[in-house]
Amino acid sequence: MSSTVEVATAFQAPKGTRDVLPPESARWEALVGLFAARARRAGYGLIVTPMFEDMGVFERVGESTDIVRKEMYDFHDKGGRHLALRPEGTASVVRAYVQHRPVTPFKTWYVAPNFRYESPQAGRYRQHHQLGAEAVGSNDADLDVEIMDLAWGVCSALGLRRVRLLLNSMGDGECRPPYRQLLLEYLERRAGELCPEHRVSYAANPLRVLDCKREECRQVTAEAPWQLDHLCGPCQAHFERVREGLDAVGIPATIELRLVRGLDYYTRTTFEFAAEALESAQNAVGGGGRYDGLAEALGGPPTPGIGFGMGIERMLLACDAEHTFPVPEDLLDAFVVDATGGRAARDLSHDLREAGLRVDRVYDARSIKAGMRVAGRSGARFALVVGEDEVVKGVVGVKPLREKGEQVEVPREALVAHLRRALEEGS
Ligand code: HAM
Repeated sequence: MSSTVEVATAFQAPKGTRDVLPPESARWEALVGLFAARARRAGYGLIVTPMFEDMGVFERVGESTDIVRKEMYDFHDKGGRHLALRPEGTASVVRAYVQHRPVTPFKTWYVAPNFRYESPQAGRYRQHHQLGAEAVGSNDADLDVEIMDLAWGVCSALGLRRVRLLLNSMGDGECRPPYRQLLLEYLERRAGELCPEHRVSYAANPLRVLDCKREECRQVTAEAPWQLDHLCGPCQAHFERVREGLDAVGIPATIELRLVRGLDYYTRTTFEFAAEALESAQNAVGGGGRYDGLAEALGGPPTPGIGFGMGIERMLLACDAEHTFPVPEDLLDAFVVDATGGRAARDLSHDLREAGLRVDRVYDARSIKAGMRVAGRSGARFALVVGEDEVVKGVVGVKPLREKGEQVEVPREALVAHLRRALEEGS
């Protein structure tokens, strides 16, 4: 297998972005495949939305959030439109729902790059990729459970054992405003004790103070009123039904009163998946919740929704930390070595690939000896050797590369059947 080195060149991938090359990219493929299969099994279809939207779409996810205020990749196009690269997936999905009005529940999944102008560090990038799912059009608490079950199932299937589901409720239009007021009054009384940032900004978004990591804020909020103690009847019933559902499907959830999430659209259920094997600042491998007011904010009819997104990069970092989900072995069936100028390799590899075999070949008209060295490094099961003799006889030399064995001559027309049999025997 090839390995890579870093070379100082005139152009590098932009700060906060990274290239994903083979063989590492095979893990991405496998992760996306695993996610897609599970999402499909639960009735979610793939949705593809544009990488950029009208800036207004993303402003609706929260004008007081860092994502919108500080981290947007926004620009004016040549027609004067104010657009922005997608910082997250939910707003685009709900915009598409409002635009197309599909039947509900509208259940979709996606895999997409997202752009946030963050300070890059391990597990935090300016372009990251999310696998996510959204269910739009139903209030049913069982959908909350289904969504968390999907994310949990993906973590389990990857072999992650040290991921915790953190759960909270943010209330709704009925109980959030009075709670917010209560919290605001509490923070006003103790504003002088807050961290320098929140001392000036707490009034704009008092809930964000709850998940501030600084010690001053932690101490003040330790005694703060919590939303969970101030839910209205329907939100309380919804939360109970979610907890009952998680219990029933065997997903352990930890109530996290500080969990307010970094986007403004959440109502009722909010959750995060925390990978304990990662540094705590970047250990959220996924997160989501309900957004029952978002469709209306985007100009549609009042329509509830719930979903989650998980960061591919962070999921794979968690897998590394837990030594699970290695790069899958995707080895070649055969490698063609042609010392007669390359035409045989060209035609043979075409025929074998059409027959469904995984085949690579030597290029640049190498000698048999040099070709065999490349074949050996390729990890293929068999080298297929074509020299002048083989061409004259109409045969191909088949030599096992991963186990001991002599080279045998196989007639060209019997090659596919021969290889299939040999591969079967060895598998
Ligand atoms: P989020 O919590 O902002 O939620 O992002 C979801 C996940 O994406 C995070 O848990 C993390 O794994 C990953 N992520 C976010 N930012 C970065 C970054 N800068 N670098 C690397 N990974 C990152 C959302 O985006 C919501 N749209 C989730 C959702 C879907 N809520 C409802 N439906």
